[in-house]
Amino acid sequence: MKIAVVFGTRPEIIKLSVLVKLAASSPGVGLEIIHTGQHYSYNLSERFLEDLGLPHIKEDIAVGSMERLDQLRRMVAGLEVALENACCDLVTVQGDTNSTLAGAIAGRNLSLPVAHVEAGLRCFSPLMVEEINRIAVDRISDVCFAPTPIAAVNMEKDGLDAGKVFLVGNTIVETVRESLETAHRRSRVLAEYELEKDRYVLITAHRQENVDDKQRLKNLVRAFELIELPMIYPVHPRTLERMVEFELLHRLEAISNLTLTDPLSYFDFLELASSSRLIITDSGGIQEECTVYKKPIIVVRDSTERPEIVGTFGQVIGSDPEAISEEVRRLDDKYREITAALDSLPSPYGDGKASERILETLLRLYG
Ligand code: UD1
Ligand code: UDP
Repeated sequence: MKIAVVFGTRPEIIKLSVLVKLAASSPGVGLEIIHTGQHYSYNLSERFLEDLGLPHIKEDIAVGSMERLDQLRRMVAGLEVALENACCDLVTVQGDTNSTLAGAIAGRNLSLPVAHVEAGLRCFSPLMVEEINRIAVDRISDVCFAPTPIAAVNMEKDGLDAGKVFLVGNTIVETVRESLETAHRRSRVLAEYELEKDRYVLITAHRQENVDDKQRLKNLVRAFELIELPMIYPVHPRTLERMVEFELLHRLEAISNLTLTDPLSYFDFLELASSSRLIITDSGGIQEECTVYKKPIIVVRDSTERPEIVGTFGQVIGSDPEAISEEVRRLDDKYREITAALDSLPSPYGDGKASERILETLLRLYG
Protein backbone atom coordinates (compact mmCIF):
# COMPACT_ATOMS: atom_id res chain seq x y z
CA MET A 1 0.00 0.00 0.00
CA LYS A 2 1.38 3.42 -0.91
CA ILE A 3 -0.08 6.37 0.99
CA ALA A 4 0.10 9.98 -0.12
CA VAL A 5 0.05 12.35 2.85
CA VAL A 6 -0.87 15.90 1.86
CA PHE A 7 -0.30 18.84 4.19
CA GLY A 8 0.39 22.54 3.93
CA THR A 9 0.16 24.36 7.26
CA ARG A 10 1.72 24.30 10.72
CA PRO A 11 -1.07 22.40 12.51
CA GLU A 12 -1.33 19.76 9.79
CA ILE A 13 2.42 19.05 9.96
CA ILE A 14 2.23 18.77 13.75
CA LYS A 15 -0.83 16.52 13.81
CA LEU A 16 0.28 14.21 10.98
CA SER A 17 3.88 13.88 12.19
CA VAL A 18 3.44 10.67 14.20
CA LEU A 19 1.36 8.97 11.49
CA VAL A 20 3.97 9.89 8.87
CA LYS A 21 6.81 8.47 10.98
CA LEU A 22 4.82 5.30 11.69
CA ALA A 23 4.06 4.82 7.99
CA ALA A 24 7.69 5.50 7.05
CA SER A 25 8.90 2.76 9.40
CA SER A 26 6.21 0.16 8.58
CA PRO A 27 7.30 -2.68 6.27
CA GLY A 28 5.07 -2.93 3.22
CA VAL A 29 3.88 0.68 3.46
CA GLY A 30 5.02 3.15 0.82
CA LEU A 31 4.82 6.85 1.60
CA GLU A 32 4.76 10.04 -0.44
CA ILE A 33 4.61 13.31 1.47
CA ILE A 34 3.30 16.25 -0.54
CA HIS A 35 3.55 19.77 0.88
CA THR A 36 1.20 22.30 -0.72
CA GLY A 37 3.35 25.26 0.37
CA GLN A 38 0.37 27.12 1.88
CA HIS A 39 2.71 27.83 4.81
CA TYR A 40 6.20 28.55 3.50
CA SER A 41 7.91 30.72 6.13
CA TYR A 42 10.64 28.76 7.92
CA ASN A 43 9.01 29.29 11.33
CA LEU A 44 5.59 28.00 10.16
CA SER A 45 6.78 25.03 8.11
CA GLU A 46 10.38 23.82 7.58
CA ARG A 47 11.26 24.25 11.25
CA PHE A 48 8.45 21.83 12.23
CA LEU A 49 9.55 19.27 9.64
CA GLU A 50 13.07 19.38 11.11
CA ASP A 51 12.11 19.38 14.80
CA LEU A 52 9.50 16.66 14.47
CA GLY A 53 11.94 14.47 12.49
CA LEU A 54 9.87 14.05 9.34
CA PRO A 55 11.33 12.29 6.31
CA HIS A 56 12.30 14.08 3.13
CA ILE A 57 9.49 15.70 1.15
CA LYS A 58 9.68 14.80 -2.52
CA GLU A 59 6.95 17.07 -3.83
CA ASP A 60 6.32 20.67 -2.91
CA ILE A 61 3.55 22.52 -4.74
CA ALA A 62 4.88 25.87 -3.43
CA VAL A 63 1.52 27.59 -3.79
CA GLY A 64 2.22 30.53 -1.43
CA SER A 65 -0.34 33.05 -0.15
CA MET A 66 -3.14 34.34 -2.36
CA GLU A 67 -6.91 34.70 -2.56
CA ARG A 68 -8.70 31.51 -1.45
CA LEU A 69 -10.21 30.30 -4.74
CA ASP A 70 -7.02 30.96 -6.69
CA GLN A 71 -5.06 29.13 -4.03
CA LEU A 72 -7.44 26.16 -4.10
CA ARG A 73 -7.35 25.97 -7.90
CA ARG A 74 -3.54 26.04 -8.01
CA MET A 75 -3.16 23.53 -5.21
CA VAL A 76 -5.61 21.08 -6.79
CA ALA A 77 -3.85 21.33 -10.17
CA GLY A 78 -0.40 20.86 -8.58
CA LEU A 79 -1.56 18.02 -6.37
CA GLU A 80 -3.14 16.13 -9.26
CA VAL A 81 0.20 16.07 -11.07
CA ALA A 82 2.13 15.14 -7.90
CA LEU A 83 -0.33 12.36 -7.02
CA GLU A 84 -0.23 10.92 -10.51
CA ASN A 85 3.58 10.91 -10.49
CA ALA A 86 3.62 9.23 -7.10
CA CYS A 87 1.33 6.32 -8.11
CA CYS A 88 -0.30 6.16 -4.66
CA ASP A 89 -3.21 3.97 -3.59
CA LEU A 90 -4.87 6.60 -1.40
CA VAL A 91 -4.62 10.17 -0.17
CA THR A 92 -4.62 11.24 3.49
CA VAL A 93 -5.45 14.78 4.57
CA GLN A 94 -5.90 16.34 8.01
CA GLY A 95 -8.05 19.06 9.52
CA ASP A 96 -9.85 21.95 7.86
CA THR A 97 -7.47 24.21 5.95
CA ASN A 98 -7.45 25.12 2.27
CA SER A 99 -4.70 22.52 1.82
CA THR A 100 -6.94 19.87 3.37
CA LEU A 101 -9.75 20.64 0.93
CA ALA A 102 -7.38 20.81 -2.05
CA GLY A 103 -5.90 17.40 -1.14
CA ALA A 104 -9.35 15.85 -0.89
CA ILE A 105 -10.54 17.34 -4.20
CA ALA A 106 -7.37 16.28 -6.03
CA GLY A 107 -7.69 12.72 -4.69
CA ARG A 108 -11.35 12.58 -5.69
CA ASN A 109 -10.60 13.95 -9.17
CA LEU A 110 -8.13 11.10 -9.69
CA SER A 111 -10.60 8.53 -8.26
CA LEU A 112 -8.23 7.75 -5.39
CA PRO A 113 -9.70 6.88 -1.98
CA VAL A 114 -9.47 9.88 0.39
CA ALA A 115 -8.94 9.51 4.15
CA HIS A 116 -9.74 12.48 6.42
CA VAL A 117 -7.94 12.68 9.77
CA GLU A 118 -9.81 14.76 12.40
CA ALA A 119 -13.15 14.45 10.63
CA GLY A 120 -16.56 15.51 11.92
CA LEU A 121 -15.67 18.72 13.76
CA ARG A 122 -18.42 21.33 13.59
CA CYS A 123 -18.74 24.78 15.16
CA PHE A 124 -22.05 25.47 13.38
CA SER A 125 -20.86 28.86 12.07
CA PRO A 126 -21.64 28.17 8.40
CA LEU A 127 -19.71 31.14 7.03
CA MET A 128 -16.37 30.25 8.62
CA VAL A 129 -13.92 29.11 5.97
CA GLU A 130 -12.71 26.23 8.13
CA GLU A 131 -16.30 25.02 8.68
CA ILE A 132 -16.92 25.04 4.92
CA ASN A 133 -13.68 23.08 4.38
CA ARG A 134 -14.56 20.51 7.09
CA ILE A 135 -18.03 19.79 5.76
CA ALA A 136 -16.79 19.48 2.18
CA VAL A 137 -13.85 17.23 3.07
CA ASP A 138 -16.01 14.90 5.19
CA ARG A 139 -18.45 14.61 2.30
CA ILE A 140 -15.71 13.90 -0.28
CA SER A 141 -13.76 11.43 1.87
CA ASP A 142 -14.09 7.65 1.72
CA VAL A 143 -12.75 7.21 5.26
CA CYS A 144 -13.42 9.69 8.09
CA PHE A 145 -11.31 9.38 11.24
CA ALA A 146 -13.35 10.95 14.04
CA PRO A 147 -11.30 12.15 17.02
CA THR A 148 -14.19 12.00 19.52
CA PRO A 149 -17.70 10.54 19.82
CA ILE A 150 -19.16 14.04 19.34
CA ALA A 151 -17.39 14.30 15.97
CA ALA A 152 -18.75 10.88 14.96
CA VAL A 153 -22.29 11.95 15.89
CA ASN A 154 -21.91 15.18 13.89
CA MET A 155 -21.21 13.13 10.77
CA GLU A 156 -24.13 10.82 11.49
CA LYS A 157 -26.40 13.91 11.76
CA ASP A 158 -25.03 15.12 8.43
CA GLY A 159 -26.23 11.84 6.91
CA LEU A 160 -22.76 10.46 6.14
CA ASP A 161 -22.46 6.71 5.72
CA ALA A 162 -21.70 5.26 9.19
CA GLY A 163 -19.52 2.59 7.56
CA LYS A 164 -16.91 5.16 6.58
CA VAL A 165 -16.55 6.67 10.07
CA PHE A 166 -13.88 5.32 12.47
CA LEU A 167 -13.52 6.66 16.01
CA VAL A 168 -9.77 6.75 16.71
CA GLY A 169 -8.90 9.74 18.96
CA ASN A 170 -6.94 12.85 18.02
CA THR A 171 -3.36 12.48 16.81
CA ILE A 172 -2.35 15.63 18.72
CA VAL A 173 -2.22 13.58 21.94
CA GLU A 174 0.68 11.42 20.73
CA THR A 175 2.46 14.40 19.18
CA VAL A 176 2.40 16.28 22.48
CA ARG A 177 3.40 13.22 24.49
CA GLU A 178 6.33 12.52 22.16
CA SER A 179 7.52 16.13 22.23
CA LEU A 180 6.94 17.35 25.77
CA GLU A 181 9.98 15.71 27.32
CA THR A 182 12.25 17.10 24.58
CA ALA A 183 10.66 20.51 25.05
CA HIS A 184 11.44 20.48 28.79
CA ARG A 185 14.98 19.32 28.13
CA ARG A 186 15.88 21.53 25.16
CA SER A 187 13.93 24.74 25.45
CA ARG A 188 15.38 27.82 27.16
CA VAL A 189 12.35 29.92 26.32
CA LEU A 190 11.41 30.88 29.89
CA ALA A 191 14.88 32.21 30.61
CA GLU A 192 15.07 33.91 27.21
CA TYR A 193 11.91 35.95 27.85
CA GLU A 194 12.46 36.26 31.63
CA LEU A 195 9.26 34.46 32.52
CA GLU A 196 8.54 32.71 35.79
CA LYS A 197 6.93 29.26 35.64
CA ASP A 198 3.15 29.31 36.30
CA ARG A 199 3.12 33.14 36.52
CA TYR A 200 2.31 34.32 33.00
CA VAL A 201 -0.43 34.20 30.39
CA LEU A 202 0.31 32.72 26.94
CA ILE A 203 -1.66 34.28 24.08
CA THR A 204 -2.22 33.18 20.48
CA ALA A 205 -4.84 34.65 18.13
CA HIS A 206 -4.70 34.31 14.38
CA ARG A 207 -8.11 33.11 13.14
CA GLN A 208 -9.53 34.99 10.19
CA GLU A 209 -12.84 35.70 11.98
CA ASN A 210 -10.91 37.40 14.81
CA VAL A 211 -8.04 39.22 13.20
CA ASP A 212 -9.52 40.24 9.82
CA ASP A 213 -12.34 42.03 11.66
CA LYS A 214 -11.11 45.41 12.87
CA GLN A 215 -13.53 45.70 15.79
CA ARG A 216 -12.80 42.19 17.06
CA LEU A 217 -9.06 42.73 16.82
CA LYS A 218 -9.44 46.06 18.66
CA ASN A 219 -11.41 44.24 21.37
CA LEU A 220 -8.63 41.71 21.79
CA VAL A 221 -6.01 44.45 22.10
CA ARG A 222 -8.20 46.20 24.70
CA ALA A 223 -8.54 42.91 26.63
CA PHE A 224 -4.73 42.53 26.73
CA GLU A 225 -4.46 46.14 27.99
CA LEU A 226 -6.74 45.20 30.91
CA ILE A 227 -4.78 42.11 31.99
CA GLU A 228 -2.30 42.68 34.80
CA LEU A 229 -0.33 39.40 34.70
CA PRO A 230 2.83 39.08 32.57
CA MET A 231 1.87 37.95 29.06
CA ILE A 232 3.67 36.51 26.04
CA TYR A 233 2.22 36.47 22.54
CA PRO A 234 3.89 34.70 19.58
CA VAL A 235 2.29 36.57 16.70
CA HIS A 236 1.12 34.74 13.55
CA PRO A 237 2.00 36.60 10.29
CA ARG A 238 -1.69 37.10 9.44
CA THR A 239 -2.22 38.85 12.77
CA LEU A 240 0.88 41.00 12.39
CA GLU A 241 -0.33 42.17 8.97
CA ARG A 242 -3.77 43.09 10.33
CA MET A 243 -2.31 44.81 13.39
CA VAL A 244 -0.32 47.04 11.04
CA GLU A 245 -3.23 47.59 8.62
CA PHE A 246 -5.67 48.50 11.42
CA GLU A 247 -3.03 50.66 13.18
CA LEU A 248 -3.16 48.61 16.37
CA LEU A 249 0.44 47.42 16.60
CA HIS A 250 1.63 50.50 18.52
CA ARG A 251 -1.02 49.86 21.20
CA LEU A 252 0.06 46.25 21.55
CA GLU A 253 3.72 47.27 21.75
CA ALA A 254 2.88 49.82 24.44
CA ILE A 255 1.59 47.18 26.88
CA SER A 256 4.49 46.96 29.32
CA ASN A 257 3.66 43.50 30.73
CA LEU A 258 3.27 41.96 27.23
CA THR A 259 6.14 40.36 25.27
CA LEU A 260 5.58 39.94 21.52
CA THR A 261 7.55 37.30 19.61
CA ASP A 262 7.69 35.72 16.18
CA PRO A 263 5.97 32.33 15.84
CA LEU A 264 7.89 29.90 18.04
CA SER A 265 9.29 26.44 17.42
CA TYR A 266 7.13 23.55 18.61
CA PHE A 267 9.45 22.75 21.51
CA ASP A 268 9.56 26.37 22.71
CA PHE A 269 5.82 26.69 22.33
CA LEU A 270 5.10 23.48 24.26
CA GLU A 271 7.47 24.54 27.01
CA LEU A 272 5.77 27.96 27.24
CA ALA A 273 2.26 26.50 27.16
CA SER A 274 2.89 23.75 29.69
CA SER A 275 4.59 26.20 32.09
CA SER A 276 1.98 28.96 31.78
CA ARG A 277 -0.66 30.01 34.30
CA LEU A 278 -3.36 30.04 31.64
CA ILE A 279 -3.74 30.37 27.88
CA ILE A 280 -5.84 32.77 25.81
CA THR A 281 -6.31 31.47 22.28
CA ASP A 282 -8.45 31.04 19.20
CA SER A 283 -6.34 28.12 17.96
CA GLY A 284 -7.93 24.75 17.33
CA GLY A 285 -4.84 22.70 18.12
CA ILE A 286 -4.15 24.49 21.39
CA GLN A 287 -7.70 23.76 22.59
CA GLU A 288 -6.75 20.09 22.28
CA GLU A 289 -3.15 20.27 23.50
CA CYS A 290 -4.13 21.93 26.79
CA THR A 291 -5.93 18.71 27.77
CA VAL A 292 -2.60 16.86 27.63
CA TYR A 293 -0.44 19.36 29.59
CA LYS A 294 -3.49 20.27 31.73
CA LYS A 295 -3.74 24.05 31.52
CA PRO A 296 -6.90 26.15 31.62
CA ILE A 297 -7.71 28.08 28.45
CA ILE A 298 -9.91 30.97 27.42
CA VAL A 299 -11.22 30.59 23.87
CA VAL A 300 -11.64 34.03 22.32
CA ARG A 301 -14.20 32.97 19.74
CA ASP A 302 -18.01 32.90 19.63
CA SER A 303 -18.18 29.15 19.07
CA THR A 304 -15.92 26.14 19.06
CA GLU A 305 -15.74 22.91 17.12
CA ARG A 306 -14.05 21.43 20.21
CA PRO A 307 -16.98 21.30 22.68
CA GLU A 308 -15.24 18.49 24.60
CA ILE A 309 -13.21 21.06 26.58
CA VAL A 310 -16.02 23.47 27.47
CA GLY A 311 -16.70 23.66 31.19
CA THR A 312 -13.51 21.78 32.13
CA PHE A 313 -10.30 22.82 30.37
CA GLY A 314 -11.82 25.88 28.72
CA GLN A 315 -14.55 28.45 28.31
CA VAL A 316 -15.68 30.09 25.08
CA ILE A 317 -15.67 33.77 26.00
CA GLY A 318 -15.99 35.66 22.68
CA SER A 319 -14.16 38.94 22.17
CA ASP A 320 -15.60 41.26 24.83
CA PRO A 321 -12.56 42.84 26.59
CA GLU A 322 -14.22 42.98 30.03
CA ALA A 323 -15.40 39.37 29.79
CA ILE A 324 -11.92 38.18 28.79
CA SER A 325 -10.08 40.08 31.54
CA GLU A 326 -12.70 39.01 34.09
CA GLU A 327 -12.18 35.35 33.14
CA VAL A 328 -8.40 35.82 33.47
CA ARG A 329 -8.91 37.19 37.00
CA ARG A 330 -11.20 34.28 37.91
CA LEU A 331 -8.72 31.66 36.65
CA ASP A 332 -5.82 33.49 38.30
CA ASP A 333 -7.59 33.64 41.69
CA LYS A 334 -8.51 29.96 41.57
CA TYR A 335 -5.32 28.77 39.86
CA ARG A 336 -4.35 26.04 42.37
CA GLU A 337 -7.86 24.66 42.71
CA ILE A 338 -8.46 24.64 38.96
CA THR A 339 -5.14 23.06 37.94
CA ALA A 340 -5.49 20.39 40.66
CA ALA A 341 -8.88 19.47 39.19
CA LEU A 342 -7.54 19.47 35.60
CA ASP A 343 -4.55 17.29 36.56
CA SER A 344 -6.90 14.41 37.34
CA LEU A 345 -8.98 14.74 34.15
CA PRO A 346 -8.12 12.46 31.21
CA SER A 347 -7.86 14.11 27.80
CA PRO A 348 -11.14 13.84 25.86
CA TYR A 349 -8.98 13.52 22.74
CA GLY A 350 -7.87 9.96 23.36
CA ASP A 351 -5.09 7.76 24.61
CA GLY A 352 -2.25 8.69 22.25
CA LYS A 353 -2.83 5.77 19.85
CA ALA A 354 -4.89 7.53 17.17
CA SER A 355 -2.07 7.44 14.59
CA GLU A 356 -1.58 3.69 15.15
CA ARG A 357 -5.31 3.07 14.71
CA ILE A 358 -5.40 5.17 11.55
CA LEU A 359 -2.54 3.25 9.94
CA GLU A 360 -4.04 -0.12 10.97
CA THR A 361 -7.42 0.85 9.50
CA LEU A 362 -5.88 2.05 6.24
CA LEU A 363 -3.88 -1.18 5.94
CA ARG A 364 -7.00 -3.24 6.59
CA LEU A 365 -9.04 -1.32 4.00
CA TYR A 366 -6.43 -0.72 1.31
CA GLY A 367 -3.41 -2.91 2.08
C1 UD1 B 1 -4.41 28.84 7.89
C2 UD1 B 1 -5.75 28.12 7.99
C3 UD1 B 1 -6.26 28.19 9.43
C4 UD1 B 1 -5.21 27.65 10.38
C5 UD1 B 1 -3.87 28.34 10.16
C6 UD1 B 1 -2.82 27.67 11.00
C7 UD1 B 1 -7.11 28.26 5.94
C8 UD1 B 1 -8.32 28.85 5.33
N1 UD1 B 1 -6.75 28.75 7.13
O1 UD1 B 1 -4.62 30.20 8.22
O2 UD1 B 1 -7.43 27.41 9.54
O3 UD1 B 1 -5.67 27.86 11.69
O4 UD1 B 1 -3.49 28.24 8.78
O5 UD1 B 1 -1.77 28.52 11.31
O6 UD1 B 1 -6.50 27.38 5.37
N2 UD1 B 1 1.88 33.99 5.72
C9 UD1 B 1 3.24 34.12 5.93
N3 UD1 B 1 4.01 33.00 5.88
C10 UD1 B 1 3.49 31.78 5.61
C11 UD1 B 1 2.12 31.67 5.39
C12 UD1 B 1 1.32 32.78 5.46
O7 UD1 B 1 3.76 35.20 6.19
O8 UD1 B 1 4.26 30.81 5.58
C13 UD1 B 1 1.02 35.19 5.81
C14 UD1 B 1 0.61 35.68 4.43
O9 UD1 B 1 0.62 37.07 4.42
C15 UD1 B 1 -0.81 35.20 4.32
C16 UD1 B 1 -1.31 35.14 5.76
O10 UD1 B 1 -0.15 34.84 6.53
O11 UD1 B 1 -1.60 36.04 3.54
C17 UD1 B 1 -2.36 34.09 5.98
O12 UD1 B 1 -1.91 32.82 5.55
P1 UD1 B 1 -2.95 31.68 5.07
O13 UD1 B 1 -2.21 30.45 4.78
O14 UD1 B 1 -3.85 32.23 4.00
O15 UD1 B 1 -3.90 31.47 6.30
P2 UD1 B 1 -3.59 31.34 7.83
O16 UD1 B 1 -4.07 32.56 8.50
O17 UD1 B 1 -2.19 30.91 8.05
N1 UDP C 1 2.29 26.48 17.76
C1 UDP C 1 3.69 26.55 17.70
N2 UDP C 1 4.28 27.78 17.76
C2 UDP C 1 3.57 28.93 17.91
C3 UDP C 1 2.15 28.85 17.98
C4 UDP C 1 1.55 27.61 17.88
O1 UDP C 1 4.36 25.52 17.59
O2 UDP C 1 4.17 30.01 17.98
C5 UDP C 1 1.64 25.17 17.62
C6 UDP C 1 0.69 24.78 18.74
O3 UDP C 1 1.38 24.08 19.75
C7 UDP C 1 -0.32 23.89 18.04
C8 UDP C 1 -0.35 24.42 16.62
O4 UDP C 1 0.80 25.25 16.47
O5 UDP C 1 0.11 22.55 17.97
C9 UDP C 1 -1.60 25.20 16.38
O6 UDP C 1 -1.54 25.80 15.14
P1 UDP C 1 -2.39 27.07 14.79
O7 UDP C 1 -2.85 27.73 16.05
O8 UDP C 1 -1.58 27.85 13.84
O9 UDP C 1 -3.59 26.49 13.94
P2 UDP C 1 -5.02 25.88 14.35
O10 UDP C 1 -4.78 24.75 15.28
O11 UDP C 1 -5.84 26.98 14.93
O12 UDP C 1 -5.58 25.46 13.04
